[in-house]
Amino acid sequence: MNPNILILGAPGAGKGTQSARIADEFDVEHVTTGDALRANKHMETEHGTPASFMDAGELVPDPVVNEIVNAALSEADGYVLDGYPRNLSQAEYLDDITDLDVVLYLDVDEEELVHRLTGRRLDPETGDIYHVEYNPPEDEEVEARLEQRDDDDEETVRERLRVYRENTEPVIEHYEETGELVRIDGEQTPDEVWDEIKATVENEA
Ligand code: AP5
Repeated sequence: MNPNILILGAPGAGKGTQSARIADEFDVEHVTTGDALRANKHMETEHGTPASFMDAGELVPDPVVNEIVNAALSEADGYVLDGYPRNLSQAEYLDDITDLDVVLYLDVDEEELVHRLTGRRLDPETGDIYHVEYNPPEDEEVEARLEQRDDDDEETVRERLRVYRENTEPVIEHYEETGELVRIDGEQTPDEVWDEIKATVENEA
């Protein structure tokens, strides 16, 4: 059976960057609540549209997100889960519906997170993640079509980090207490972070 991997970290810690490599290497599904919500941003739910929360940097209500995760995990033969759980109630829900093999936590300083997010650019054709300074594309054609995410302006980034500290840091403590959390220094280069993740998953799963 393929491993069930949870990747935790603040906005900009590199979860999306590393999850793509994890999915490739370990042949598991990349389940990301952020992308799933962005694909359904304007869907009307009884709680309002996801966009009304996301564009302000706030959390989308639990019932909407829990349903997305439950459906995605029940169809997956092994997964890397990215962007969830974001509060203790989501963590309790997750504990009820699945068994985790590895819990990774990417640790990065807050000012570095702001710098990474405001400089992030995305390729709408491939989904590849770039950074204007750390990881610019080599191809000019790719560079010309890059886009910035709606919530990557500095004001919204700072609000996302505040919401993270308030709601998601207790989730890190939860997995520290269960003894499952493996802390990875997320301030290394993407390749160095990857080497540590790969070794950890091979060891633990
Ligand atoms: P979501 O899409 O999940 O965003 P996030 O958690 O804020 O994380 P990001 O995708 O912004 O960062 P990342 O860690 O993946 O960083 P990346 O690899 O791109 O959520 C968006 C919104 O959706 C939320 O605000 C909320 O409204 C809603 N939502 C989602 N899930 C929810 C839930 N469970 N409950 C309620 N609401 C929910 O890297 C960032 C940049 O850094 C890139 O430019 C990259 O090139 C660069 N970089 C990466 N690694 C390195 C490195 N090692 N060194 C230097 N640069 C690096």
